[in-house]
Amino acid sequence: MKNVYNFNAGPSALPKAVLERAQSQLLDFKGTGMSVMELSHRSKEYEEVHQNAIDLLKELYRIPENYQVLFLQGGASLQFSMFPLQYLKEGTVGNYILTGSWSEKAIKEAKMIGETKVAASSKENNYKSIPNFTDLQFNDNDAYVHLTSNNTIYGTQWTEYPEISHAPLIADMSSDILSRPVDIEKFGLIYAGAQKNLGPSGVTVAIVRDDLLSENVDHVPTMLRYQMHAETNSLYHTPPTFSIYMLNEVLTWVKEQGGVEEIEKRNIEKAKLIYDAIDESNGFYTGHAEKESRSLMNITFNLPSDELNKQFLSKAKELGFVGLNGHRSVGGCRASTYNAVPLEACIALRNYMDSFRKNR
Ligand SMILES: Cc1ncc(COP(=O)(O)O)c(C=O)c1O
Repeated sequence: MKNVYNFNAGPSALPKAVLERAQSQLLDFKGTGMSVMELSHRSKEYEEVHQNAIDLLKELYRIPENYQVLFLQGGASLQFSMFPLQYLKEGTVGNYILTGSWSEKAIKEAKMIGETKVAASSKENNYKSIPNFTDLQFNDNDAYVHLTSNNTIYGTQWTEYPEISHAPLIADMSSDILSRPVDIEKFGLIYAGAQKNLGPSGVTVAIVRDDLLSENVDHVPTMLRYQMHAETNSLYHTPPTFSIYMLNEVLTWVKEQGGVEEIEKRNIEKAKLIYDAIDESNGFYTGHAEKESRSLMNITFNLPSDELNKQFLSKAKELGFVGLNGHRSVGGCRASTYNAVPLEACIALRNYMDSFRKNR
């Protein structure tokens, strides 16, 4: 089998142990004589997987009792319209903190539904940083304040979250969910596509506070109501059963590794290797993000010229590094070091960065 170092930005690496386990259960899931994909979503075997995934996420992420975990579809992209549809009402504003392309996409959808404002933006410095808390502008009639916890494309990440009490704080945590402990109580709603830290694509996780499940949503189509998904335990319709099965396996793996605190420690160690390669390169590699806003999940950098970027990426490909190209909208290089990327892959990348610089 070809050995690669998978630094894909999403879908991205899954823990090898999870893939092996899924492989071993593929043809006969727990003595049912069929794969988990072929089970009824109303069967006791599937319902166990489904409930276990909900319970494990609550346990690992220390989700308080007054929050529900929902399994949705349509990716984080559908969330961009789903939450404004129920919370952005006449006379209120959706207030957005813009820190990159995904926040821009989120506000674009909300504009089609109601009034929006920008609480702060780091666009003028090419999204190299996260705004200071003191720069955030709030309004009395905020329906919510929205932020993107980790900016997958620019490689920046919030290190702390503001305390917001006048309106629910909503976070797109697609690219750093479960990468570190989070004080869930600061948020009214957290959502994330699974395909980076949680499993394969196909399932979107939402963590919603109870008070946001009791809003009047008569005007919202049934499938787009959080309330309905909460009332049916995300089994109103056929859920993406295989993705949820894989999510359950990934969560089991996180628990086996020692939980989110241990995962965070490893993430810090992995990212440090690559940031050190940048910082110790005498300017050969330049990081896109300002140091205090650096992401532990997506490390973005450039070489001194486009030509050198190309050579670096092409040689990397020959050596088995996958997914190091920057996003097509910004170019350069990006290493995504999500939870399942092993330390050895980051050591190999660090060594390659050093040797490319010295031998060019
Ligand atoms: C921060 C962030 N938000 C939203 C998305 C879009 O997610 P999806 O493809 O699940 O709609 C992505 C995808 O990369 C992302 O990184």
